[in-house]
Amino acid sequence: MSLSNESVLDALRRVQDPELHKDLVTLNMIKRVDVTGDRVSLNVELTTPACPMKDQISKDITRELKAIGAAAVDIEWSAQVRATPKLAAQLPGVKNTIAVGAGKGGVGKSTISVLAALGLHRDGAKVGLLDADVYGPSIPKMLGIENEKPKVRDDKILPIVAHGIRVMSMGFMVEPERAVIWRGPMIHGVIKQFLDQVDWGELDYLIIDLPPGTGDVPLTLSQSLPMTGAVVVCTPQDVALLDAVKALRMYQQLNVPILGIVENMSYFIAPDTGKEYDLFGRGGAKRAAQRLDVPFLGEIPININIRVSGDAGTPVTNFEGADATSREPITNFVRALAGRISVQSMMQPAPLELKIT
Ligand SMILES: Nc1ncnc2c1ncn2[C@@H]1O[C@H](COP(=O)(O)OP(=O)(O)OP(=O)(O)O)[C@@H](O)[C@H]1O
Ligand SMILES: [Mg+2]
Repeated sequence: MSLSNESVLDALRRVQDPELHKDLVTLNMIKRVDVTGDRVSLNVELTTPACPMKDQISKDITRELKAIGAAAVDIEWSAQVRATPKLAAQLPGVKNTIAVGAGKGGVGKSTISVLAALGLHRDGAKVGLLDADVYGPSIPKMLGIENEKPKVRDDKILPIVAHGIRVMSMGFMVEPERAVIWRGPMIHGVIKQFLDQVDWGELDYLIIDLPPGTGDVPLTLSQSLPMTGAVVVCTPQDVALLDAVKALRMYQQLNVPILGIVENMSYFIAPDTGKEYDLFGRGGAKRAAQRLDVPFLGEIPININIRVSGDAGTPVTNFEGADATSREPITNFVRALAGRISVQSMMQPAPLELKIT
């Protein structure tokens, strides 16, 4: 049986993106269709190279095309990250800005920022990482670039490139041991400078690691840019969850969309026995996410390599060589985040309704 391009497109109209809840044709995700007899070859353009739904979409396409008589289906994948509306006017070339925050210190914001940035890069995205913790910058050490000094070209500061990620941090500018005392207006100035005067180039994602708490940095960011959204990191303990709720409320007040909550230090798997321990009680963040009606992005275990790689500046070891018990939850989190960013940046503001009286 011979198929026509029209019948193939009709079948593809029955396949929905599971997160965007629209069909692939309407979403303009079908970039090429070649039909030869009963064989179909097509290109599907995803909204992120780190798409968590790729397998599902592939299955659904194959099912619908087989149902109309296709004998063979060959899918070629590409990706085009969609941009957050209005961001380009403020930060040309940057498609999405993602803040990583928490109500509390030490819950793993910087660790999660590094894992998110590296995971997105490894899946094929162009990624920047802004260390906005001007009080205690830890990103340079976590990436093994604490002795680097950024260069200036044409009045723009060039980010340091590490592990494929473009990085900027106050840590490049001040002595590591020196405490930095900042007042609100100074914070505003330095964050603006990191956004306006750094040559970020073309980025699919700019991950922004925040200092602990609900202070001047998130305020400045939300006033300076249309933020794509915020990730809230917390540990399973009640006290950390209370702080996470405070952070959520702050973002809501600042009109920064919540991309989701991630539970860090969720559980521990003993490397020698494989036995799992819930050191701080597990699942609190998931329950809080359900209660607050925000997405849950996953559970990251306590893992010796996550800590060692943070101290040694070797984050790649969490993806290469790491055993599946830490690699899989990290990868799942990164892709869940990428999925939520796609959903968020596709949510254009509702068009104004014209009322004619
Ligand atoms: N899942 C994990 N497994 C093991 N160690 C972890 C994990 N997450 C974070 N750590 C370790 O915990 C310490 C604190 O993490 P990190 O610096 O990322 O937290 P933070 O929230 O950014 O802290 P701060 O509030 O000081 O900025 C680091 O030594 C880090 O390596
Ligand atoms: Mg930190």
